Amino acid sequence: MSENEEKLFESACGYLYPFKVIVFRYLLFSGQRKKEILAFLFENYYISPVIIAGCDKKYPVILAPMAGWTDFVYREVCKKYGADIIYTEMASADALIRDHKKTFEIVRFSQQQRPVGIQLFGADAEILAAATDIVNDLQPDFIDLNMGCPAKKVVKRGGGSALLQDLVKLGRIAAAVVKKSRVPVSAKIRSGWSQNNAVSIAKILASSGVAFIAIHPRTQKQQFKGSADWRVIKDVKDAVNIPVIGNGDIQSVNDAERMLETGCDAVMAGRATRGRPWIFSHIKRYFKDGTLLDEPPDNNKIEICLDHIERLVDFFGERRGLLLARKHISWYVKGIPNASTIRQKVFSLKEYKFVKEELLTLQCSMQKHFATAVY
Ligand SMILES: Cc1cc2nc3c(=O)[nH]c(=O)nc-3n(C[C@H](O)[C@H](O)[C@H](O)COP(=O)(O)O)c2cc1C
Repeated sequence: MSENEEKLFESACGYLYPFKVIVFRYLLFSGQRKKEILAFLFENYYISPVIIAGCDKKYPVILAPMAGWTDFVYREVCKKYGADIIYTEMASADALIRDHKKTFEIVRFSQQQRPVGIQLFGADAEILAAATDIVNDLQPDFIDLNMGCPAKKVVKRGGGSALLQDLVKLGRIAAAVVKKSRVPVSAKIRSGWSQNNAVSIAKILASSGVAFIAIHPRTQKQQFKGSADWRVIKDVKDAVNIPVIGNGDIQSVNDAERMLETGCDAVMAGRATRGRPWIFSHIKRYFKDGTLLDEPPDNNKIEICLDHIERLVDFFGERRGLLLARKHISWYVKGIPNASTIRQKVFSLKEYKFVKEELLTLQCSMQKHFATAVY
């Protein structure tokens, strides 16, 4: 094997990693890399059909973990509209080992959501390894380490982006979780604490056995201010030979396309999916054949919103489901004429049948309006 081929094979197969890592790494490689790897493997090795299964996904489009948003139902809805890979909201490693019931709700997923990653946060290698042991039994497709959350309540306990201040500890945590995990381990990072040191962080993670990295290129200090510096994604991609997922400020199909210029292997969207889960299928369609799909008409948006609310009510029960639905409704109706009146009216209703009635009436009025405009 030439030196190049060796490198290619090592990065594709993750030398000495379990089989699932091989599959996962493969899924995240860009189209060109996939072709090269496949050609090389066909020539030299037997390939399992499982590896080939991901071939149609040239660039996977991924749902970012968002605490308070990407619950079980949100993930189902995003999957329905094309998300290739899904993360749970972050779950506290401490809470998992204390058998905290609500935290187990966070990490629950369905078979339809696969491939799905459970995201853990914590500050202690032993506790995170113990939580990994617990999560292993749930058989996610990967376990993700939250090394980027800037929230005060996480950071003050040494978790999330606080880990970016102590790279020795960060490496120790990654290695401990990799050792315990039965599935690939990934990490989601920011570009640093107050300064960008993403390349050093990524190198340590890669050498600790992390299978792939997602980077949101803002520092902890920046929180969500300014814009994400996508040059950092390129720097990380150039520095490590594991797949890199680009994240931060994707608002449109064109943004996703531009992010691919960084060389990243997959794109991840968070905030832009709120009230717009169809953004996944739009990005994928564009990646596939260059077609730019129009935003769905308002009556279609209401239909998708209703489906989302119904799932929330089915999963969480009527009271909690309707409370959770409020923030989603707010996003779905954004930009629709009289959005604030619609919100006010719907939020005052306590029973799903009335919410449904209200939204169906609204939808009918839109269709009528559309029909009048056409004829
Ligand atoms: C409300 C909210 C909750 C978030 N929760 C998490 C989380 O649990 N874990 C995580 O790694 N990142 C979390 N993030 C960060 C996102 O995953 C993502 O990195 C960030 O929003 C940038 O991507 P975007 O511009 O596509 O939204 C959260 C972001 C938001 C807005």
